[in-house]
Amino acid sequence: MRTQVGIVGGGPAGLLLARLLGLAGIDAIVLERRTPEYLRARIRAGLLEQGTVDLLNDIGVGARLDRERLIHDGVELAFDGQRRRIDLKALSGKSVTIYGQAEIQNDLMDAHEAAGTPIVYAAEDVSLHGLTGEQPHLRYRKGGKSHDIACDFIAGCDGFHGVSRQAIPPDVLRIYEKVYPFGWLGILSETPPVNHELIYNNHERGFALCTMRSLTRSRYYLQVSAEEDAAHWSDDRFWTELKGRLPPDVAARLVTGPSIEKSVAPLRSFVAEPMRHGRLFLAGDAAHIVPPTGAKGLNLAAADVRFLAEALVAHYKTGSAQLLDGYSTKCLARVWKAQRFSWWMTSLTHRFPDASPFERRAQGAELAYITSSRAGQTTLAENYVGLPFA
Ligand code: FAD
Ligand code: PHB
Repeated sequence: MRTQVGIVGGGPAGLLLARLLGLAGIDAIVLERRTPEYLRARIRAGLLEQGTVDLLNDIGVGARLDRERLIHDGVELAFDGQRRRIDLKALSGKSVTIYGQAEIQNDLMDAHEAAGTPIVYAAEDVSLHGLTGEQPHLRYRKGGKSHDIACDFIAGCDGFHGVSRQAIPPDVLRIYEKVYPFGWLGILSETPPVNHELIYNNHERGFALCTMRSLTRSRYYLQVSAEEDAAHWSDDRFWTELKGRLPPDVAARLVTGPSIEKSVAPLRSFVAEPMRHGRLFLAGDAAHIVPPTGAKGLNLAAADVRFLAEALVAHYKTGSAQLLDGYSTKCLARVWKAQRFSWWMTSLTHRFPDASPFERRAQGAELAYITSSRAGQTTLAENYVGLPFA
C-alpha cells in the first residue's frame, strides 16, 4: 500500500487532519488501535474555543454542533463561599462552546464514513520506519497479517501514550514536564446542570468543577489524590463530597442522580520539542499534555492540525517546504502560551497538599485580585476563550 500522508491515531487530531487533507485532494490512511464502538463512546473534553468551532464548520462537520451546542458568555470562579462571574464576552468579545468530544468524534467518523476515507480500526502493533529518509513507512498487524504502507509523510496523532513520539530518538527530543500531586475524578450524570455556566471552585477540601454536556446532562469533577481509585467512590460519596465543596446556594440546588461514567484522570503538563523529526510530524496530545483546568487540550490539538494541514497543502500545491519547516516553531509558540495558562489556572484553583500557609494566603489574594480587577479578569478571559491565531 502507499499513501501521501500516513496518520497514526484516529482521535480528534487524526480525524481532523484526515478530513482537512481529504478536502484538499491529498490521500491519507488512518491507523487506529481501538474499535469504532470504543471511540464513539469515549468521554473526554467538553469546552471548545471559537477557533475550534470555526474549523469544524469549515470542514463540513458543524451542522449538529450548531444545533446542539451551548454557548457560554461567562464563567464563574467560587472561593470563600462566594461566586464571582467573569464576563468573557464583554471582556474578550468572544464566547465558548459546550459540545462533547464524544460528539465531535462521532461527527468526524460519520463524515469519514460518508467520504470513504480509509481508516483501519483495531490496527495492532503500529510501528514507524525510515523517518529521516525519503520514504518513511508504517507497519501494522491486522487479522493475523502484517501490512506495510509507504508514505511521503507521517502524522503522529496517537495521543500521549502512542508510539509516534517514541519513534523519535531520545537524544533529539527535549521533554518539559510537570506532574501534579492530584488527579480529577469525573462523573457524568443524566441530571440538569447546577448552573447555566461553568463554576471553578477553590475549596479547602479541594477543587471542584461544575460543567455539563447539555441542559439535561451534567459533568462534575473533584480534585482527588493522583492514586485515587474511582471504584472507591460510590455515587453517594461523590455527591456528598461535591456538595461540601460548592458555595451553599449552589449546593442547595444541586440535582443528583446515578452516574453514567466515573473515572480518574491524572494531571500533567508535558511538552516534547521539536514536534517534527524528519518526515514525522507530531500533533495534539502526542506532543503535549495540559492539565484540563484551562480546557485547552482538544483546542490545541485542533490548532496543531490546522497548521499541519496548511503546511502539507502548501507542499503539495507549490512544492514549498517553508511551512513544513516552520511547523514545530509555530505550534510551540501557541502550545507554550496554553501551557502557561493551564498551569496558572491549576495553581489558582487547586489545593496543593504541600502549600505553606504563606502560599495559601497568596493564592487567596490572587483569586480576589483576578476576580475584582478588570485587568485581572481580562487576562483570564482572553486566554480562556482562546488566543487569536494571527
Ligand atoms: P487522543 O484523543 O488521545 O487520540 C489519540 C488516538 O490515537 C486515540 O484514538 C488512540 O486510541 C490512538 N492510538 C494510541 N496509540 C496508538 C497506536 N499505538 N496505534 C494506533 N493508534 C493509537 N480538552 C479541551 O480542549 N477542552 C476540555 O474541556 C477538556 N477536558 C478534558 C477533560 C478530561 C477529564 C481529560 C482527560 C481531557 C480533557 N481535554 C480537554 C483534553 C482532550 O481530551 C485531549 O487533549 C484530546 O483528546 C487530544 O486529542 P488527540 O487526538 O491529540 O489525542
Ligand atoms: C468539561 O466539560 O469536561 C470540561 C470543561 C472545562 C474544563 C475541563 C473539562 O476546564
